[in-house]
Amino acid sequence: MNYLRRRFSSSDIQKDLEDEDSKQQNFGNAASNFFGFGAGKKVVEEMSSMRTKFKGPSPSAPNSPSRGNLANITGNISGGVTNMTKGLFSKPGYNKDKCKCLLIVDDQHTDWSKYFRGKKVLGDYDVRLEQAEFREISLSSYSEGGCVVDIHSHRSGSKVAKSFKPDFVLIRQHPVDVNENWKSVILGLYYAGVPSVNSLEAVYSMLDKPWVFAHLAQIQKNLGKEQFPLIEQTFFPNHREMTAPAKFPVIVKIGNASNGAGKVKIDNSYDFQDVTSVIAVTNCYSTTEPYYDSKYDIHIQKIGNNYKAYMRKSISGNWKANIGSAMLEQISVNEIWKLWVDEVSQLFGGLDICAVQGIQAKDGRQYIIEAKGSSMTLLGESQEDDRRLIADLVLQKMQLSCKQSSTSKSLSSGGMQPAATSRNTPQAGNSARQVPNGQAMGGTAKIDGGPPNMVGGPGGPVPAPRPQPQVSPRATSSMPIPQPQQSNRPQPQQVNNINANMSLADKTEAVIRDLQEEDTMSNLKKTFAGIFGDM
Ligand SMILES: Nc1ncnc2c1ncn2[C@@H]1O[C@H](COP(=O)(O)OP(=O)(O)OP(=O)(O)O)[C@@H](O)[C@H]1O
Ligand SMILES: [Mg+2]
Repeated sequence: MNYLRRRFSSSDIQKDLEDEDSKQQNFGNAASNFFGFGAGKKVVEEMSSMRTKFKGPSPSAPNSPSRGNLANITGNISGGVTNMTKGLFSKPGYNKDKCKCLLIVDDQHTDWSKYFRGKKVLGDYDVRLEQAEFREISLSSYSEGGCVVDIHSHRSGSKVAKSFKPDFVLIRQHPVDVNENWKSVILGLYYAGVPSVNSLEAVYSMLDKPWVFAHLAQIQKNLGKEQFPLIEQTFFPNHREMTAPAKFPVIVKIGNASNGAGKVKIDNSYDFQDVTSVIAVTNCYSTTEPYYDSKYDIHIQKIGNNYKAYMRKSISGNWKANIGSAMLEQISVNEIWKLWVDEVSQLFGGLDICAVQGIQAKDGRQYIIEAKGSSMTLLGESQEDDRRLIADLVLQKMQLSCKQSSTSKSLSSGGMQPAATSRNTPQAGNSARQVPNGQAMGGTAKIDGGPPNMVGGPGGPVPAPRPQPQVSPRATSSMPIPQPQQSNRPQPQQVNNINANMSLADKTEAVIRDLQEEDTMSNLKKTFAGIFGDM
């Protein structure tokens, strides 16, 4: 468990440490008395992010719906049988003929299903939730729109393979981290025009920290150093350019890693030479910045229109407050912090989910050190609340993009001018490029590594279902691009019966209604024609 120690305190940290044992015994009481994580409440937690990063999943709130150890243990014993029967006989928790598929890229430690259970989009479409880590995902994308995602994972001791077409994506994992680079998955999703929170343009733009930092520097240019006190930083594309700074100590940040990895504090020019020699064998870019003796970290986050701020104070003595034990306290968001996070939320076409990280130095000044997007770490007890906020945001954007997608389909299939297709920008409501056949494929779980059983599942708001690309995920290179099919579409004049004064949403519904009636009529005609001859 990442949360080896978690205690509640309102007094000073030293006292907390002395009282640790007795407080741990009272943990149950303290936790049950703890209703939310309001400003002023303090939590001491083990920020074992490095260990976490390399050995296991990332931190999750104690009350988060984690996939627990117990499940693993019992899963190992009975997993094979249970999962086989589950996979073969159990009903999915969604109507596979009427659902929209949401892919959440996150580690296994957080179970997102709780937040989407029973949720609907487009009125009565179930949300089919698929959760996977980057390393479990492979996909094939089609320029005509849509992509088929394959997930190969190990759950409770069994291999599970699934194939589906995502209608929407939430990226909660860093696509680029220590020895990991999943940029190709982001490219694939974007290639297929899959809408996402944050937008895939934004996720792509935030793959490299120096790229983000350059944008922060631009904000500073506009607002001034007082309003936006970004730390001074120097970028080196490789070790050859690295010259020792005039002043020490400095922090050298190597490559693109999170959770404190690749960050070294250097006190003199000899150590600096040493570190450059290490960078020489890494093939990484690096940055240097002054080290500020800090009182605590500042973390300001924005999810939709919800703002939160935390201070994180190291109590284990590590200069990185995200390593070892730290005390976490939610504090109120002041105007300047709101400005910082608001400015950042406007980067890259808009960030629905973002955070600004800074340090409160002992010299009394604050320095912004970086910004994060939808994969930002959630902190403290309010993670539960944060996940709900993220889930609500996702549903809201998903609803919007599914609506736009169905409107585009209806209008274009009706011979009308297709709706403007655009990549999603959060301000514009994440309007997504139209994804033909964007319905979720009814992929079924296949046990123990057998080939996934692909079932082309109908679904989606267009009443006359289009055929799904019939493919095996293994034969990705030879996958035929889905061809538009002739169907009983209404003629333009039929669609144009829509009242010109109606809103876009009303028009969409009217179009769908028209199409439904049209299809029902034509089906009836066909049936009667079959019985009585042509009518
Ligand atoms: N210039 C600095 N001066 C003093 N402390 C710093 C400086 N830069 C970073 N730190 C400390 O080191 C910690 C980790 O730094 P940083 O946030 O850059 O790493 P990271 O890998 O991005 O971690 P995370 O993924 O948690 O954001 C910070 O939380 C802060 O406590
Ligand atoms: Mg950071």
